[in-house]
Amino acid sequence: MSEPILTAPFLVEMIRTASNMYQHGWDERNGGNISLRLDETEISPFLDTSTVLRTLPTGFDAPALDGTCFLLTGAGKYFKNVPYDPPKNLGLIRLADAGRTAEILWGFSDGGRFTSELPAHLMSHSARLAEDPNSRVVMHCHPANLIAMTYVHDLDPRAFTRTLWQMCTECIMVFPDGVNVLPWMLCGTNEIGAATAAQMHTARLVVWAQHGIYGAGTSLDETFGLIETAEKAAEIYMKIAHLPRKATITDAQLRQVAAHLKLTPREGFLETTNL
Ligand code: 13P
Ligand code: ZN
Repeated sequence: MSEPILTAPFLVEMIRTASNMYQHGWDERNGGNISLRLDETEISPFLDTSTVLRTLPTGFDAPALDGTCFLLTGAGKYFKNVPYDPPKNLGLIRLADAGRTAEILWGFSDGGRFTSELPAHLMSHSARLAEDPNSRVVMHCHPANLIAMTYVHDLDPRAFTRTLWQMCTECIMVFPDGVNVLPWMLCGTNEIGAATAAQMHTARLVVWAQHGIYGAGTSLDETFGLIETAEKAAEIYMKIAHLPRKATITDAQLRQVAAHLKLTPREGFLETTNL
């Protein structure tokens, strides 16, 4: 006899995270999506994983993820509603057929499907796993200040990262790898998925200009915290960008923070001269 699936730690944490993201204003309407990589052994105490409810084509190959399970938000589903009806707004899939088929094991109970951003999620999982075998989460949302910044700031990743690092001391501690930035592209496509994944090799945060941000991490908490920190920095930037700057965090100070915590800032992103 299985335990009730709504008591599964991964589901409890997913529901809390989606609610928290909604409360932060990052996920208006159906904005945003989350995927959490799971081992089948984590799922099997709660679900008979030999029962496949339906299958759906993914629309691309993901051979490295064949047989991998993911808990995901649904296409068109409102983060606001996730806690009220988890099986309708979330779903559990297992990839088969070299990643070309998603076997639905639980959820998407109204006949729905996984997020339209599945390509960006799965391709980003593959990219991050190549860098860090503990990577488990890909998170996308629409935080207002990061989006606002993409209208007024240079989109060069070095320039964008340096501004965020200068906005609060914690930033370089939380994302020493910086952020990458994609120009505006059509969302929900394999093309934006591949472009996002390519950027995920060098940073765990990828900004989509005039759209939102992708974050990747080892847990829902960590990934939420990454985006939270970047969005806080963007908020400070949007508060001060139009005002005369009287102070900043210098490159020497940023290097001091990194050295103190034994972190390696993204190669080439700090000035080498002792500013
Ligand atoms: P989904 O509802 O398909 O997850 O799409 C939301 C979104 O943010 C698209 O970029
Ligand atoms: Zn989006």
